[in-house]
Amino acid sequence: MKRALSCLFMAGSLVLAGAIPGLVQAQDAAQKPDAKAGEQLFVKGDTSRGILACVACHGAGGNSTIPANPNLAGMPHEYIVKQLQDFQAHDKTPPVRTGANGAPTIMSSIAANMKPEDMQNLALYLSHQPLDWDKAGTATKPATKDLGQHIWRAGIVDRKVPACAACHSANGAGLPGEFPRLAGQHPEYILEQLKLFRSGDRKSEIMHAIADRMNDQDLAAVADYAAGLR
Ligand code: HEC
Ligand code: HEC
Repeated sequence: MKRALSCLFMAGSLVLAGAIPGLVQAQDAAQKPDAKAGEQLFVKGDTSRGILACVACHGAGGNSTIPANPNLAGMPHEYIVKQLQDFQAHDKTPPVRTGANGAPTIMSSIAANMKPEDMQNLALYLSHQPLDWDKAGTATKPATKDLGQHIWRAGIVDRKVPACAACHSANGAGLPGEFPRLAGQHPEYILEQLKLFRSGDRKSEIMHAIADRMNDQDLAAVADYAAGLR
């Protein structure tokens, strides 16, 4: 029995060491994201498919100067792809991301006709753009800084709200592939998203459980504080 198990284990490692990497490489070659194509779509859009030029709202290189439109520069590749998918409707299930009360967001029609390769290309291009810290969002409310900082670093213990820093990192930089950067994001946008997580109009089990235990004052304080992190 022991021997059979170790044989299985060996066979498994052989598969891992040999066949699967070969397969992954072959797939990579077929669908390698193309940053140039991503830049083209970002700057020009594709009117034949209803894809508006992203630059008009998200700014040059994804550095948005309009508070309602998020900064996209330097966001993790996987995060951007997931968000673009989340704006799309799939047959009978409603989109993961809608506006308040389930209404479509500005992004719904823009993402509707995107193909998987468009998302990959856009995400590769954007993840390589530097965030322009001079134009980035920042904190503007000194009066709520202490509350925001406390929630960011320690959470709210008696309501079981975890520290934001545990996932979004101490300096708000996020974690590639997992958690979005919040430092330098526009505070108005962060607050709006926290409210959408709380109402469930933007679906995320993790973020809903967190936002649902916070009141408006907590959300506003931590949104402002997070934006000002560097
Ligand atoms: C007319 C303005 C407008 C245009 C054009 C636009 N966006 Fe957006 N985008 C927004 C707004 C507003 C939001 C916030 C949406 C929400 O709250 O549901 C957003 C959100 C996003 C997000 C989610 C960001 C995050 O931090 O979660 C991504 C990714 C995104 N847009 C990518 C794009 C791409 C790529 C294009 C071009 C193909 C594009 N957008 C075109 C206004 C725009
Ligand atoms: C256990 C990990 C975890 C903790 C703790 C956490 N987050 Fe998040 N957060 C996530 C994940 C995962 C997402 C991405 C959700 C998605 O896919 O849309 C996210 C997304 C967000 C977004 C959306 C960003 C954007 O660009 O649209 C905001 C805003 C946010 N979190 C704020 C906070 C705040 C404020 C706290 C603390 C009160 C916090 N988070 C604590 C995991 C976490």
